[in-house]
Amino acid sequence: MATAKTTTKTETPKKETSKKSAEAITQSAKTSKTKAAAISKKPIENRSEGKKKILFVASECTPFIQTGGLAEVIGSLSKALAVTWRYDVRVVVPMYSDIKREYRDKFTYLGNLYVHLAWRNQYCGIFTYEENGVTFYFIDNEFYFKRPGCYGYFDDGERFAFFSRSVLEIMPFLNFYPDVMHCHDWQAALAAIYLKTNYCFREEYQFIRALFTIHNIEYQGQYSLDLLGDLFDIYGTYQYLVEYRNCINLMKGAIECCEAFSTVSPRYAQEIKDPYFAHGLDPIIRKNEFKLRGILNGIDDVGYNCELDKHLFANFTPNDFSNKKICKQELQKILGLPQKPDTPIISMITRLVSHKGLDLVTNVIEELLQDDVQVVILGTGDAHFEGFFSDLAYRYPDKMSTNIAFNGDLSRKIYSGSDIFLMPSKSEPCGLSQMIACRYATVPIVRETGGLYDSIKPLENGYTFANYNAHDMLYVIRQAIKDYKKKSEWEKLMYRAVTADFSWGHSATEYEALYSDMLK
Ligand code: GLC
Repeated sequence: MATAKTTTKTETPKKETSKKSAEAITQSAKTSKTKAAAISKKPIENRSEGKKKILFVASECTPFIQTGGLAEVIGSLSKALAVTWRYDVRVVVPMYSDIKREYRDKFTYLGNLYVHLAWRNQYCGIFTYEENGVTFYFIDNEFYFKRPGCYGYFDDGERFAFFSRSVLEIMPFLNFYPDVMHCHDWQAALAAIYLKTNYCFREEYQFIRALFTIHNIEYQGQYSLDLLGDLFDIYGTYQYLVEYRNCINLMKGAIECCEAFSTVSPRYAQEIKDPYFAHGLDPIIRKNEFKLRGILNGIDDVGYNCELDKHLFANFTPNDFSNKKICKQELQKILGLPQKPDTPIISMITRLVSHKGLDLVTNVIEELLQDDVQVVILGTGDAHFEGFFSDLAYRYPDKMSTNIAFNGDLSRKIYSGSDIFLMPSKSEPCGLSQMIACRYATVPIVRETGGLYDSIKPLENGYTFANYNAHDMLYVIRQAIKDYKKKSEWEKLMYRAVTADFSWGHSATEYEALYSDMLK
């Protein structure tokens, strides 16, 4: 980890790095005329220190910034690999202005350099932070990242091209050349593409292997071919790598360029060979199948633990669920639902978008609400779903609670206070919520797709249905409600759910095997 703290001779003096907040330092660094002159002058770090060097490249990471499951995987997988002591794990993400203040204030400024991208020459500040044995780097550029949120801007292509190029440019500055550069989703795809086009001819870069992980094939990073040179700075000779169906397709480019690529569950790895799931990329997946793996995500099973979680109204254990009743009662209280201990609560914590299976739910929910149930929804998303569920809560105030929000504290209260967790996704690369629900002894009902299929087994730790059909789903929900009434059987099911192993242990070992194969 020594290099993380390295500063170059010509950088901002040390005293400046120690006391000021990260933001103030950004400003002072920007105004200074210093350049990273020491770049490329250092000897390449000794690769045989015993640890393999892994660099995660991603657009979000817990605990700093999160919009979805990707961030959790980056945060928890990097930690799981670092604790083995076999890896020097580092993670690089953009320094968004929304990164939590409590962390920003602890970042250390390492220096800055200028990154070329076609005709652009952009400031790139580098900040660092260490936690749980993982070194994090943050790429600072206020023009690109001082905006609310992470995505959804007209220039996202340029923002993540700058980010990806910076990842390669900071390596000489840090004197850190990973054995495996592990890029996640389209926002990091260009790092793999640049490595295998512009950079691999340089001595220091030529041993770096690229692994590309697809967390969701729906978002591919597609742009007009006109932007090839002007925006992405890719030479015409490499157009064939990124071109797909008359567009630039960054995910396709990364798949072509990397030594291996993976998805976040074995089932999804199979599914994306099929046009139904692949959003047009199935021919590319099939062509590159020889380097594809599917590795099921794990979750941070210490962070999600019904015995320890401070967010819960009461903690409980797999051997004594009595306090889960308190969680349920208090949840009903804060949501304004009648406090009925024997009425099953069915919950959904989800983005309110169609592929999460909401079309099925909207189809049959009024039928379901005729039964003795309570339904709780937490999430944000498409306006018509937000409106639909809000209206339903208005019409069924005793049975339905709709919460249009992204709220970590409330989500844990809902996971722990519910009886059944519904996740009927049309497609689901992995899905973490069904595993988290299990950790709070809440029994999941899922559709058999992607990681839902791989993690939830009928009657072992939940319920499943195969076809994307609203009444198939309703049938299984009603079966679960019936079983819920048989208290001792239900408790056995809760026990099997809460004790199912979703830790990273197994999956991290599979990543280790993959890294080893790539380094042979
Ligand atoms: C994406 C996928 C989700 C997966 C997560 C982490 O958000 O949609 O299924 O669990 O990435 O890999």
